[in-house]
Amino acid sequence: MQKLNLLYEGKAKQIYRTNEDAVLLVSYKNSATAFNGEKKAEIEGKGRLNNEISTLLFEKLAENGIESHFIKRLSQTEQLVKEVSIVPLEVVVRNIMAGSLSKRLGIEEGTPLKTPIVEFYYKNDDLGDPLITEDHIELLEAATKEQVQQLKEAALKVNQVLISHFKNCGIRLVDFKLEFGLTKNGTLLLADEISPDTCRLWDEKTNEKFDKDVFRRDIGSLTDAYSEILNRLGGETACT
Ligand code: C5P
Repeated sequence: MQKLNLLYEGKAKQIYRTNEDAVLLVSYKNSATAFNGEKKAEIEGKGRLNNEISTLLFEKLAENGIESHFIKRLSQTEQLVKEVSIVPLEVVVRNIMAGSLSKRLGIEEGTPLKTPIVEFYYKNDDLGDPLITEDHIELLEAATKEQVQQLKEAALKVNQVLISHFKNCGIRLVDFKLEFGLTKNGTLLLADEISPDTCRLWDEKTNEKFDKDVFRRDIGSLTDAYSEILNRLGGETACT
């Protein structure tokens, strides 16, 4: 397998074409950004940690019958994925009140939600990725009504598997963001990454934060937090 030209560079990853048909190479960067790129830093080891964590989580989902674009981890910071055309929506699932929803509704962070909430945000940096309704999604032609239902169902299934997996590691899955893509034959496939960059992960007992809020809120070391997640997921104290 050969790494060919750079196709796309985002805030946290680079995507390269390969010499294999419909197979892309994702390279996880050490860059950390928050607040739509306003806060930035280079953090040694972040790319490796997110690549490894994302690999373990995609593998866990596959074991539970949830397919994704993930093919295999290639190196410390690289993985191979299936080529998809990304649906311009961020699908957020919330189990515990936190972050932007806590601010928007004035409900205290940490308040458990009776049932998980699914939200859609329009992937558009110029607009600051606004929260949108299902009617807006139709208006923007970002996805069909049927696809919106599929996205919701898939996101809730991912939530079930991840809640129980993290629980086995003593971690509460507060909320997370997923992205999906369409394969050439029009199938929706889970894509992008699942890592402490895209999830809120709190210690079950102490509520200590092991996710990007550590960086956003300057409340500790990002590498210590992400290493803790990696150790609990796949290190010597690996959970089942
Ligand atoms: O900021 P907010 O509370 O809406 O974030 C909800 C969840 O989605 C958090 O886990 C956050 O890390 C994730 N997220 C993300 N990328 C974004 C926006 C949110 O990974 N662009």
